[in-house]
Amino acid sequence: MQSPVDVFRPGLLDGHVALVTGGGSGICRGIAHAYAKLGAKVCIVGRKQDVLDKTASELGGSVFGASADVRQPDQIAAAIAACVARFGKLDTVVNGAAGNFLAPVAGLSPNGFKTVIDIDLLGTFNTTRAAFELLRASGNALVLNISATLHYHGTPLQIHASAAKAGVDAVTKTLAVEWGQFGIRACGIAPGPIGDTEGMRRLAPGDIAQKAMQHIPAGRFGTIDEIAAAAVYLRSPAAAYITGHVLVVDGGQCIAIPSLLGV
Ligand code: COA
Repeated sequence: MQSPVDVFRPGLLDGHVALVTGGGSGICRGIAHAYAKLGAKVCIVGRKQDVLDKTASELGGSVFGASADVRQPDQIAAAIAACVARFGKLDTVVNGAAGNFLAPVAGLSPNGFKTVIDIDLLGTFNTTRAAFELLRASGNALVLNISATLHYHGTPLQIHASAAKAGVDAVTKTLAVEWGQFGIRACGIAPGPIGDTEGMRRLAPGDIAQKAMQHIPAGRFGTIDEIAAAAVYLRSPAAAYITGHVLVVDGGQCIAIPSLLGV
C-alpha cells in the first residue's frame, strides 16, 4: 500500500538536518523515517542507546541516535552537539519525547504528575532552548511540537498529560511569536488515536480502543505515516507561512458529538 509520505517529491528535504526526540519508536520514529526518506539527515534522541541504534540501522545511513533524557539540560545539549558534530548544522527540532500512563487524580502522586510534566513540557523547553542558536543560524528553521487533543476536553485519568500538552501548545505559540524574526517557525501536531503505537497499547487497553473507534468520524484509527506526512508538510516550503498553528490529525475525533455520529 502506498504511504501518504510518498505523495511528497523525492529529495524534498535534501540538505536538511533534523533532530527528533522520541524518535526511537512510535509516531516520532515515523517522522524520522519520513524525513530521512525525503533526503534529510536525522538525529534521533531517546533514553536508551540500544533502542536508538536499532532504529537507526533500520532507517538507514542518514539516521543516527544520540541518547539523552530530555529532562536533563546537559544531556540534551550534548545530544544536540553530537548531531551538529555529525551533520554540521540543525534546521528542525521535533519535540516528541513523552511519557504517559493512566492514573486517577486521587491516585496520582505529586511525583507522578511532575514526571510527565518534566518529560513532555520541560523536555520540550529544554530541547528547544538548547537548539536556539543553531536554529537561528539555519535561517529556515522549524520547531515541531507533538502534543495531543487531551486538553481540548476534560480527559479522565490524564490530568498530567493533559496539563503537559496544553503547556506544549502554549510553548508553540510563544516560540512562533518570539522567534519568527529569526527565521524560525514553530508548529504543532496534535495526533488523535494512532494505531500500532505504545500509546494506544498503554492508554486504551482491552476493548476501550474498539469503543473509541465508534466515536471517530473517519471510522478508523490514524496511522503513523499519516502523522509523518503532516510533519513533512509542516516542514516543507508549502507551509512556509504557517507558524504558531497546531494541526489536529485525528479523523475528526475531537470535534465530534458522539450521540450525533451517523445521523
Ligand atoms: N500509575 C501511577 N503512577 C505512576 C505510574 C502509573 N502507571 N507510572 C509511574 N508513576 C509514578 C511513580 O509512582 C513515581 O512517583 P512516586 O515517586 O511518587 O512513586 C513517578 O511516576 C515516577 O515514576 P518512575 O517510574 O520513577 O519514572 P520514570 O522517569 O522512570 O518513567 C515514565 C516515567 C512515564 C516514562 C514511565 O511510565 C515509562 O517508562 N513509560 C513508558 C513510555 C511511555 O510512557 N511512552 C509514552 C506512551 S504514550
